[in-house]
Amino acid sequence: MAFETIVVEIEDGIATITLNRPEVLNALNSQVFNELAEVAANLGADDSVRAVIITGGDKVFAAGADIKQMASLGAVDVATSVRPSRIAFDRLENMSKPVIAAINGYALGGGCELTLTADIRIAADNAQLGLPEIKLGILPGGGGTQRLPRLIGAGKAKELIFSGDFINAEEALRIGLVNKVVPADQVLAEAKKMAKKFASRGAVALSLAKTCINEGQRMDLEMGLQYEHKCFSLLFATEDQKEGMKSFMEKRKPNFQGK
Ligand code: HXC
Repeated sequence: MAFETIVVEIEDGIATITLNRPEVLNALNSQVFNELAEVAANLGADDSVRAVIITGGDKVFAAGADIKQMASLGAVDVATSVRPSRIAFDRLENMSKPVIAAINGYALGGGCELTLTADIRIAADNAQLGLPEIKLGILPGGGGTQRLPRLIGAGKAKELIFSGDFINAEEALRIGLVNKVVPADQVLAEAKKMAKKFASRGAVALSLAKTCINEGQRMDLEMGLQYEHKCFSLLFATEDQKEGMKSFMEKRKPNFQGK
């Protein structure tokens, strides 16, 4: 996969997407969004890929959407130019495999919103997260007003969005915005360790668990419980379920095949 604004490496079934516009702190322009959308489709369809990590490298995750590209846009331009980000973010969020954001340095605006499409966020102790769009006279248009309150609650989300303030990794951990904080030089290693663990589990079960959680957020409790029951039942048609339970009874590790 040859891209200009991202780098994609696949090793032992784990794909790492690295944002690669260091000269502008990985600001996300339409090319980045188009490339992210394409890579998400490719990795989503590749059964050999069991988990995906998205990172900006060891200095910065991303300082937001590219302000220089957005500055001269009119409303009609935005109605069409926002689309690549929507496609990219939807594909990343709904990929049938775990996605982990490994965050060093700034994750701001669209960069922070990109991390919200991941299932798990691991932050460096030097990370700074925030949604500063309000200071530019706009709002977080990459899903921030929707995904953030669902993750951390409306009160804290409003405080972050109305103020535009950055918070450090420790505060992000405290309010549930990130799952884990580790020393800056260990973020990617920690993400890989977690990805490896997820990849060792039954891929169908994991994918359906992810679907239950994501879809469940769009349903009321009763519908969600019914949806969960259907997914749960379906797993009894898989070889992984037979193998998982057999391995327990035989007191050995399961050897899942993802089918
Ligand atoms: C374009 C950006 C950028 C951005 C940084 N740069 N952020 N270019 N868009 N979002 C560029 C700078 O212009 C500069 O290039 C270079 O990167 C280094 O940035 P500095 O500002 O010199 O670095 P520093 O002083 O360390 O400050 C870091 C910073 C600051 C605090 C992160 O850059 C900053 O506030 N950036 C903007 C953050 C932001 O408002 N993000 C939200 C964007 S709106 P030059 O060539 O000028 O020296 C958004 C909407 C999402 O994300 C919509 C849906 C997806």
